[in-house]
Amino acid sequence: MDSKISEDQIKKAVKELGEEILLSEGMAAEKGYLQHGFTSVYEHSFSVAAYCLKLSRMLSLDVDESSLVRGALLHDYFLYDWHVPDKSHRLHGFTHPQAALRNAERDFSLNHIERNMISSHMFPLGISLPIYRESIILCISDKICATGETAASVSAGIERLGLLIAGLKSSFRISDLL
Ligand SMILES: [Fe+2]
Ligand SMILES: [Fe+2]
Repeated sequence: MDSKISEDQIKKAVKELGEEILLSEGMAAEKGYLQHGFTSVYEHSFSVAAYCLKLSRMLSLDVDESSLVRGALLHDYFLYDWHVPDKSHRLHGFTHPQAALRNAERDFSLNHIERNMISSHMFPLGISLPIYRESIILCISDKICATGETAASVSAGIERLGLLIAGLKSSFRISDLL
């Protein structure tokens, strides 16, 4: 990773380029929905946007940075809790990009790059193909961030289990059973 590209610079750029979206009611609602493990949809979307920007700058790719950040922030703008069983989102993995696109088109003015980024981000799942460089960057970044978030929650779960077992061992006395 290019050391000249700092995390702070990337976060600042995401906040500037994605300001309209980040300050919206829809994104505020995303803070209440979990995505992977303990990560909210809002945190996941911000991380993905930051990763997209970092990757494109690191590789000096010729991209539309505004569309890259906005499309990434909105890629999971489906606005429901997919952990709660409901027939409206039974096939969440396949259908949520279209739900996200519908909501995003309702709440924001999107360009063709942003639309394609949202609809194709689950590629190779679904029928929409990533046809822009920005869409391909999002596909890759989303999968990398999702893997990291899931691994972090599994590792936190194992750590908690270890603490629980250690606590049980230290407090356990045979006399407790008598
Ligand atoms: Fe998604
Ligand atoms: Fe995602």
